[in-house]
Amino acid sequence: SYNLRNRHFLALRDFSPREIGFLLKLSADLKAAKYGGYEVPRLTGKEIALIFEKDSTRTRVGFEVAANDQGAHVTYLGPSGSHLGKKETVKDTARVLGRVYDAIEYRGFGHPIVETLAQYAGVPVYNGLTDEFHPTQILADFLTMSEHSDKPLGQVAYAFLGDAGNNMGDSLLIGGAKMGMDVRLCGPKACWPDPAIQDEAHRIAETTGARITITEEVGEAVKGADFIYTDVWLSMGESKDKWEERIRQLLPYQVNSDVMAQTGNPQTKFMHCLPAFHNAETEVGADIAKHFDITAMEVTEEVFESPASIVFDQAENRLHTIKAILVATLAN
Ligand code: CP
Ligand code: NVA
Repeated sequence: SYNLRNRHFLALRDFSPREIGFLLKLSADLKAAKYGGYEVPRLTGKEIALIFEKDSTRTRVGFEVAANDQGAHVTYLGPSGSHLGKKETVKDTARVLGRVYDAIEYRGFGHPIVETLAQYAGVPVYNGLTDEFHPTQILADFLTMSEHSDKPLGQVAYAFLGDAGNNMGDSLLIGGAKMGMDVRLCGPKACWPDPAIQDEAHRIAETTGARITITEEVGEAVKGADFIYTDVWLSMGESKDKWEERIRQLLPYQVNSDVMAQTGNPQTKFMHCLPAFHNAETEVGADIAKHFDITAMEVTEEVFESPASIVFDQAENRLHTIKAILVATLAN
């Protein structure tokens, strides 16, 4: 086993393939224990602060229920209501919370913010999503892929379509490189990851044997893929002024039945970190439908609701993988 006690969880770049493999195995064990009725609470008395400067459903409930299952308590600090970012700096907030809590989760904006928090808190800090990375999501995605594939992770191929340089694209690129996978990112060049992130992924791939493809061609990206993944075309914190441009740029990368068929693999599964814009039933969806005459963006309703879609398995696995991070870093 691996000693991850007191480690931060800020980005997958900080973890070795073996450590990531260990967290995935621990996630599967904790999942089996919960449903088998033999889960042992190993975090009794621990106090965890959950800072959310952006909204969340899955990440928040993942941390809250994982902590509760393991006997820990949480305090939710939402987008408003604490002094953070208004009257108090990140550095001061880190030192205050570090005196009171055993660990801190942070969801917010620039990645340097969570790094500052980690630098000054004196307790483990977990990245619950920044503009650049969403590492807890990737653990859940890799657990889900392993549950839906007969192959070891290192032989799995996945294609991420759309806004390929957002926090999910960056994280799937680095995570897949770490685990030696066949990673394809596909979208217009204007949306590709920063060159520094691409270089980092290629350097990691040289040591792990990962294959990395970044392309504008959908056919090339999806050929033979085991999983097709997509995400929203406008992430939290981005200006609504960008909607028109993004829709124009990214409509050719919408995951629809035709794209699913282009894999040539009838077993290909569809993945999405959620929330997704696949119909006009939400407030944002209705607004987009009114202004741009489309009822789905990154994925059609047909694919989202198809038997190939494993998006709710991913959502559930957020709980088990977040729990593994808490147990690995905090349990005695
Ligand atoms: N996938 C994900 O992080 O969802 P939330 O924004 O609901 O936490
Ligand atoms: N790219 C999305 C992911 C949400 C989980 C966002 O940052 O809004």
